[in-house]
Amino acid sequence: EKGGYKHFMAKEIAEQPVVLGDALRHYLGEDAVNLPETLDFTGLDQLTLVACGTAFYACTVAKYWFESLAGLPCEIDVASEFRYREPPLPENSFAVFVSQSGETADTLAALRYCAEKVRKTVAVVNVATSSIARECDVALPILAGVEVGVASTKAFTCQLLVLAVMALKAGVDRGRIGPEALAAHMEALRSLPGLMNAALATSEPIVKLAERLAEAQDILFLGRGPMFPLALEGALKLKEISYIHAEGYASGELKHGPIALIDRTVPVIVMAPHDRLFDKTVSNMQEVMARHGMVLLISDAKGIAEAAEGTWATLKMPAVAEPFAPILYALPAQLLAYHTAIAKGTDVDQPRNLAKSVTVE
Ligand code: M6R
Repeated sequence: EKGGYKHFMAKEIAEQPVVLGDALRHYLGEDAVNLPETLDFTGLDQLTLVACGTAFYACTVAKYWFESLAGLPCEIDVASEFRYREPPLPENSFAVFVSQSGETADTLAALRYCAEKVRKTVAVVNVATSSIARECDVALPILAGVEVGVASTKAFTCQLLVLAVMALKAGVDRGRIGPEALAAHMEALRSLPGLMNAALATSEPIVKLAERLAEAQDILFLGRGPMFPLALEGALKLKEISYIHAEGYASGELKHGPIALIDRTVPVIVMAPHDRLFDKTVSNMQEVMARHGMVLLISDAKGIAEAAEGTWATLKMPAVAEPFAPILYALPAQLLAYHTAIAKGTDVDQPRNLAKSVTVE
């Protein structure tokens, strides 16, 4: 059932172009997105997104999208904090709950807190029959197929896709995205499975890099804009299965503390497509190199041509439309975690102390 792969995680990483393609066919029509008409974002005051772990990082990426593509104020929180902090919720708002399993106890409790307070509750789930799917007003399946590996991979990219499609609908409903821009965004989303296949081909150099990463005590991930939450996700994935201490930071936060950690032994993984924030991220990266940090730059051909000098290594991704880069860059983050864990000999599919579905708080 691992389809010839050594681990479920490897199989699930490799499946992403296919399952994302399925989700794209489901959610994108000829010239409009396919979402229920009742999911109308016109005049909405706020969107609240709640989840745990990797699903929360998907929400964190989505916040950038809802704000920049749809001009929609967007609140995010981890479910275990949200449910107890008594957040006031505007009546004219939607609350979205993102969960692979649909059974995460804190996320379910957060949903119950919101149920009577907001205009609509929306589930973005993999398990369509789950409690969270059943209790929300609208349930949007992510169509990733069964995910067995404790480290979430294909569910993350499919969650991102559904959230991106929601952000596009919000942009259209709110008059921020016209027909031409919508067509361009949909085209960009449709190109992702092909780009993912190219990203998966980087597996071989990653095996080599991972051998060195496996010797590290601490690893930092840096990103800016929607790549910042991906830095958090890359660090979570790595610590979860390789047990190496890893942290994700917003690149601009480096000089506010974490730069004190940098020395020759600390790998710093910079995830930076050549976007409008690239130069700023590169200047943060140079601060790391000036302190002899080992930088692994993950970027596209243009970014690597401009900024490879002085890095320890580079990893080339295909160029991708700016807002949706996190969906593509998730793959090298997952592969780095996977191969580092293999190099360390840890149990990739069943990491210690972790359960696939956290049904107690
Ligand atoms: O089933 P859920 O998406 O609600 O699970 C949330 C987290 O427990 C989950 O994403 C966890 O962080 C993963 N093990 C990360 O790989």
